[in-house]
Amino acid sequence: MFSIGIITASDKGSRGEREDMSGKTIAEMLAGLGTVKRYVVVPDDQAVISREIIYMADELKIDLILTTGGTGLGPRDVTPEATLAVIDRQVPGIAEAMRAKSLEKTSRAMLSRAVAGLRGRTLIINLPGSPKGVRECLEVVLPALEHGLAIMK
Ligand code: MTE
Repeated sequence: MFSIGIITASDKGSRGEREDMSGKTIAEMLAGLGTVKRYVVVPDDQAVISREIIYMADELKIDLILTTGGTGLGPRDVTPEATLAVIDRQVPGIAEAMRAKSLEKTSRAMLSRAVAGLRGRTLIINLPGSPKGVRECLEVVLPALEHGLAIMK
């Protein structure tokens, strides 16, 4: 079993104005893969998101961090930048696979700028913000995740 961190990036969610269904969807879908060690809802603020990734990776030694939200084209969508600023190595195939598969369902999949990468022995994956986007993207990566996490050790 692996340790999991969930970061929901949402201005509204962080103000308590919207219930976070996407974070819950992630937790449900990953129940067979590991245990959620930390789950936070933060504003769409690059420094805050980066700091949270660093904390989960360096202090809590979490194996897998999933972010949801803030990957689109809106002026406050900064999750990919917050992720790129703190990872050592990208894993482009994960984001490529999510977009390729998702494009079969919706052309709007091309609007997600999601990235994935490693900070030390922590894998970080950006997911879109909607529960539907989370579900569709996680379905794509789940079959490869266990092997990916195992070889990171
Ligand atoms: N990917 C999948 N699989 N399913 C979706 O419904 N929504 C898209 C895209 N990726 C979607 C998806 C839409 S509409 C947007 S705007 C972008 O993700 C970015 O979403 P975000 O800004 O909430 O991260």
